[in-house]
Amino acid sequence: MQRLIAVVLFLFCATSQLASSLNDGLLPNGNFEYGPKPSELKGTKVMSPKAIPNWEISGYVEYIKSGQKQGDMLLIVPEGGFAVRLGNEALIKQKIKVIKGMFYSLTFSAARTCAQEEKLNVSVSPNYEKNDFGLFPIQTMYSSNGWDSYAWAFQASESVIEISIHNPGVEEDAACGPLIDSVALKTLYPPKRTRVNLLKNGNFEEGPYIFAGPMSEGVIIPPHIEDDHSPLPGWIIDSLKAVKYIDSDHFTVPEGKRAIELIAGKESSLSQVVRTTIGRDYVLSFTIGDANNACEGSMVVEAFANKNTVKVTYDSKGKGGFKQARLRFKADSTRTRIMFYSTFYTMKNDNSGSLCGPVVDDVKLVSIRKLHRL
Ligand SMILES: *[C@@H]1O[C@H](CO)[C@@H](O)[C@H](O)[C@H]1NC(C)=O
Repeated sequence: MQRLIAVVLFLFCATSQLASSLNDGLLPNGNFEYGPKPSELKGTKVMSPKAIPNWEISGYVEYIKSGQKQGDMLLIVPEGGFAVRLGNEALIKQKIKVIKGMFYSLTFSAARTCAQEEKLNVSVSPNYEKNDFGLFPIQTMYSSNGWDSYAWAFQASESVIEISIHNPGVEEDAACGPLIDSVALKTLYPPKRTRVNLLKNGNFEEGPYIFAGPMSEGVIIPPHIEDDHSPLPGWIIDSLKAVKYIDSDHFTVPEGKRAIELIAGKESSLSQVVRTTIGRDYVLSFTIGDANNACEGSMVVEAFANKNTVKVTYDSKGKGGFKQARLRFKADSTRTRIMFYSTFYTMKNDNSGSLCGPVVDDVKLVSIRKLHRL
């Protein structure tokens, strides 16, 4: 009996410990609020590999306090009071426990500080998939405050993995490089098609972690090229530019808690390929609107089902709102590509110069035969 209790207790402890390392949200010290001891800093430069609690660093890493000045620029940090800057060949990494085989999405916030092109390479190790890393140009500014959050997804190859964020660049000024603040992880559950929707994750409720703070302006989902695991499960961003994932805590969202904002005109598209039956009639329905983010003007979303297309206009006052739209078509292939893009580029009217666009949500595909039965 005592042994049984011990075993049960052990199992309980083991599982609760496992669960605690898997909560969705910030990594331990994921917003760098715990910093190096003064003796491990030379000015702002971090001098030893393990000086930042929970992280290991290499290369030129600086520990930055919010409000610190760089030339005429005031460095502002979105969460808490501290961030790191990844200078020449700087790398930060952290080991974490995950569930082997599960899909995860990493969200991190970054800001550009110097004028030149800056890039970040995000990866996990071990990773048995070849050439599986995310290369993020930190160049286009999407948010009004200069800080953007980016998402990248991976499948855990082992139960302990190391997440790395690396600035591969080498500049004349070794300190030049992007700032990194919050780093968070979220488990992704691959969504399934349902009886009422042939599309997976049509309402975009499953996706990367979105930071809660007031400076959070959604998450940039980068263009997806070869990767089979998307941070937005079910969907492919097979365009040149990114789309933005937004939530109802910070924006107006037509349905549920999350939606997509098409921020880069025809250069950013969202698609999903579905199996269809040749000769059968289908209805694609969706909502388009605006996120209540000062994105004002005439908007047009073009929706495609292979070659069938509809252009939906939406007159945005930038204050939130949406309308429903649909496209009826007869399938001419066993595979139909559903795709959305915004015809025009739109910029916020808040003088930030940041890109914005129409919101797409609640995308459903049903076959007409099913519709009659419902
Ligand atoms: C990104 O990092 C990974 C892992 O270290 C590496 O294999 C890959 O070559 C890097 N890619 C670029 C373009 O720097």
